[in-house]
Amino acid sequence: MTITLCNGKGGSGKTTLSVLLGAALVEAGHQVALLDTDPQNTATRWIEEMQRSPDGAALQLAKEGGEYGALFIDTAPRLETVEVRDAIRRADVVVLVTSPSPADLFTSRDTAQLIHNEGAKDRSFVLFNQVQPGTILARDLEDLAQRIGLPAFKNTLRRRQAYQHAVLLGWKSLGNEAREELFKVALEIVGSVKQQSSKERKTQHAASAR
Ligand SMILES: Nc1ncnc2c1ncn2[C@@H]1O[C@H](COP(=O)(O)OP(=O)(O)OP(=O)(O)O)[C@@H](O)[C@H]1O
Ligand SMILES: [Mg+2]
Repeated sequence: MTITLCNGKGGSGKTTLSVLLGAALVEAGHQVALLDTDPQNTATRWIEEMQRSPDGAALQLAKEGGEYGALFIDTAPRLETVEVRDAIRRADVVVLVTSPSPADLFTSRDTAQLIHNEGAKDRSFVLFNQVQPGTILARDLEDLAQRIGLPAFKNTLRRRQAYQHAVLLGWKSLGNEAREELFKVALEIVGSVKQQSSKERKTQHAASAR
């Protein structure tokens, strides 16, 4: 399955989450690779650095023609590029990563519009990142997702310093709570792809029965 993370807004957490959700799926037994389509090459450099750490990194960089159980595509914060459009079009699930701040709403809406234009609206979800429980901003996530124009994943990710360290130190540097949170989101993403394929199978079945 191909999972594209995007948002025209820089710094929303696309690269951090591509790497950490990828690592979570590796832990869950999937064969995972990351395709870095951002010319800044941040994900590439983080993974290379992780691979040098004593624990190594099971998450690999995607190779030309390689086949993987799950392929994460990290994208640049530039909606007008052909690479971002391609990454959206080829995805089984598109994850629009955003903070819960209303200040990010406009760029997230532009991103949702692009997703719509590329015909991927039915397989796209908002993932709220850097959520701080107990704050006013954390209360209205459903409303915010509605304004963005896409359904939101039920699970969200907190703002945690541990995530900042983990992109270089690897999965093993994370505590249980952080791991659990990443597993939940990663499995919800996988579940959304499975749900969609079963819907498609039912539609095909109904069509062939007619
Ligand atoms: N859940 C989180 N908790 C704490 N820090 C986070 C979290 N998610 C992202 N960050 C931090 O926010 C900053 C931006 O994250 P990241 O580079 O992943 O964003 P990006 O969307 O890939 O940015 P760009 O658009 O520039 O590629 C980084 O310093 C990262 O460590
Ligand atoms: Mg990035």
